[in-house]
Amino acid sequence: MMTFSLFRSVFGAWFLLWSVTCVWAATVHIYVSPTGDDSNDGRSPSQPVQTLNHVLVMLASDGILGNAVFVELMQGYNDLSSTLHIQSTSGTVVFRAYQGQEVHVTGGRRIASSQFHHVTDPQTLQRLPAESRDTVLELDLTAAGITDLGTLTSYGFGITTTTPLEIFINGNPLRLAEWPNNNFINVKSVPDGRNGTRVTYDAGGRDVNWVKETEPWVYGWWYWSWADRAVPVSHVDPNTHTIYLKERTKYGLRIGHFDPTKRSHQVGNSEQGGYFRVINMLCELDQPGEYYIDRITKKLYVWPNTPQQTLTSSDIVYASMIDDCFLIESKALNLSFANFTVEACRHNAFDLNNVNGVTFQNMEIKNTGGNAIHGGSQAISVLACDIHDVGGGVHISGGDRTNLVWSENVISDNHIWLHARIGATANSAVAIGGVHTTVSHNHLHHGQYHGLIWAGNDHVIEYNHIHHMCWNSSDCGAMSTGRDWTFRGNIIRNNHIHDVQRHFPGADVRGIMLDDQYSSVLIESNVMYTNDVHTNIGGGRDNIISYNVMYNSSEVEVDVDGRGLSNPGNMDTLYKSLQASPYRSALWKSRYPKLYSIMDHDPKAPEGNQIYTNIFYQEQGKKDMNYHGSGLNRSDYFDIHDNYLTSQSADFQSPENADFRLRGEAAQWASKMNFPQPVTLDEVGPRIPTGPYFLWKM
Ligand SMILES: *[C@@H]1O[C@H](CO)[C@@H](O)[C@H](O)[C@H]1NC(C)=O
Ligand SMILES: *[C@@H]1O[C@H](CO)[C@@H](O)[C@H](O)[C@H]1NC(C)=O
Ligand SMILES: *[C@@H]1O[C@H](CO)[C@@H](O)[C@H](O)[C@H]1NC(C)=O
Ligand SMILES: *[C@@H]1O[C@H](CO)[C@@H](O)[C@H](O)[C@H]1NC(C)=O
Ligand SMILES: *[C@@H]1O[C@H](CO)[C@@H](O)[C@H](O)[C@H]1NC(C)=O
Ligand SMILES: *[C@@H]1O[C@H](CO)[C@@H](O)[C@H](O)[C@H]1NC(C)=O
Repeated sequence: MMTFSLFRSVFGAWFLLWSVTCVWAATVHIYVSPTGDDSNDGRSPSQPVQTLNHVLVMLASDGILGNAVFVELMQGYNDLSSTLHIQSTSGTVVFRAYQGQEVHVTGGRRIASSQFHHVTDPQTLQRLPAESRDTVLELDLTAAGITDLGTLTSYGFGITTTTPLEIFINGNPLRLAEWPNNNFINVKSVPDGRNGTRVTYDAGGRDVNWVKETEPWVYGWWYWSWADRAVPVSHVDPNTHTIYLKERTKYGLRIGHFDPTKRSHQVGNSEQGGYFRVINMLCELDQPGEYYIDRITKKLYVWPNTPQQTLTSSDIVYASMIDDCFLIESKALNLSFANFTVEACRHNAFDLNNVNGVTFQNMEIKNTGGNAIHGGSQAISVLACDIHDVGGGVHISGGDRTNLVWSENVISDNHIWLHARIGATANSAVAIGGVHTTVSHNHLHHGQYHGLIWAGNDHVIEYNHIHHMCWNSSDCGAMSTGRDWTFRGNIIRNNHIHDVQRHFPGADVRGIMLDDQYSSVLIESNVMYTNDVHTNIGGGRDNIISYNVMYNSSEVEVDVDGRGLSNPGNMDTLYKSLQASPYRSALWKSRYPKLYSIMDHDPKAPEGNQIYTNIFYQEQGKKDMNYHGSGLNRSDYFDIHDNYLTSQSADFQSPENADFRLRGEAAQWASKMNFPQPVTLDEVGPRIPTGPYFLWKM
């Protein structure tokens, strides 16, 4: 050991690296199979261990600790009995599918199809809707060995969902029995006012059945169409058609004006909110894909979402059992996860608590209640993963804002869709914080509310393909941030953002939403089409919008306002975060000079915004720009120049195929202005196949 430290001091880091890779780091393989046995040595494919908990014990043991370890997961379903808590590995550890085999790590328990049977109890049959009495299957959970059913807890605005036990068939989620199915009814009156807990409604008389329910809930957009909440019901009065809520909703209650037959382009800011559905009612189990758990009798009722609408021995039925599937806590790691599926976790699939150096590559993460990947971390890479049917997608932050030290976090080449499965507004596909995350080449689509939100500094968001966000809400952006002056240095460039349209009443939905005086982003060289509003500036400062193609918005290309002047309601929050930031430090002064001098100007005013050298396509008679409020058409607020306005689709190669490369007069203008050729659809989104090998070889 003497000689070793001597050598190290002479040869320094080079020797250390060499010694780690060549002297100390033997390569060890640990084999794991659902058909293995923890008494095996796990060191060959013929002697696999069975559980990942046993692998953790092995990782910490002499002879393995400190080596480069490959945990080879062999084909099948590996069900975790509790959260896999990875604390202190040292050296390289890779959890991966052995030879690309089909591997699922679940937070659940498989239930044999043979344990389900048709409902025979006359009272239960009576409670079921007539159309489902012959199809709904019943399972005695106690007999199936399942005792922890979890409890229904609130979800929606501001809450990361933790689900109770849920059911998945062949990897597809089911939903709690509800009415109206995938729709809403209006609040008709609020007898005790906004702050009360009573609503009346018109349910066509079917509420006579609701009174027999033992654990009824309601889910709704109670006051704003940007704040959803699930709330337990105290009781139902079918004579007055009144639901009594057990608790107040966050923003109160109001009468709804939602038109359930018309799910597109609902308008009118004042008419938002005030609509809901009932959930968790056996009497509303009336469609394939719905289920209900009676927590008193411990029975599960399900109408299978299989093609035959029943279950056969080949159907794979899973119940989610544990909250977080993986909890990772360690400072110095070189840990990675590759090529397998993680599913059926009631809360997060991966919770990262202050870790450094974790890579997720070609993973599939699905069917979680909470986020796929969540936490505060350094050097996290999420690469080429498929993430779907989760709550939130990848929600990570890292780095040091005081000293502007980069997080080295990377979220690239992923496919994330159908996030916000349960609960809309807390569940974006990507949420980043801290300093310098690279979010590039992702394909994000079909989310109920925001697609990507950012906080913090110096992030680069580029070459992403984002569409069909804000699907079930209003006042939203496919990309969004807000209410902070100090989130400086962020760049959004070369993305395709499209089909962000309002289907619910309320304020605008936008491609990029700069809410409540957000300031200083650079929005450059993006291609945006068929959004209601491509971008807004919500009263903020120093934002730059340039070299973008903004094509055929249904309302307006860019909407700007001066809300700090007309409504100073956010100023306290803005001042507080300003004061909490080191904006007067030498480092911040050199990096963000306009923030340094913000108090020398009128900070309430939308000063220093620039909108130049963009291409705006609009049909005849429609506006490209909208000043939302009076007195805003001033160049010290919004410096607007050199934009190319056109109503000719002949200026583009093929707008119907999302090909906005320029031709004709637009091409001539572009060459004069050094306007780069707009990014094409095949240049955005993942560059490599996403998800585990077993999925893309199929
Ligand atoms: C970290 O692990 C990867 C394998 O996942 C390996 O290629 C790399 O060399 C490791 N880095 C260090 C510093 O050990
Ligand atoms: C996934 O498995 C395939 C097949 O074995 C392999 O080619 C690929 O490199 C693996 N990917 C990762 C990230 O380990
Ligand atoms: C509702 O309660 C809030 C405080 O939670 C109060 O500020 C507001 O005035 C109340 N509104 C009505 C209509 O009673
Ligand atoms: C959101 O709205 C779409 C379109 O109406 C619908 O298909 C989808 O199921 C809704 N999502 C949720 C989670 O309610
Ligand atoms: C532009 O959008 C409108 C809807 O707002 C649509 O009716 C029209 O067909 C679109 N035009 C082109 C050229 O895409
Ligand atoms: C802003 O003012 C200028 C004149 O100062 C005018 O030409 C322009 O049309 C105005 N823009 C809007 C959107 O009203």
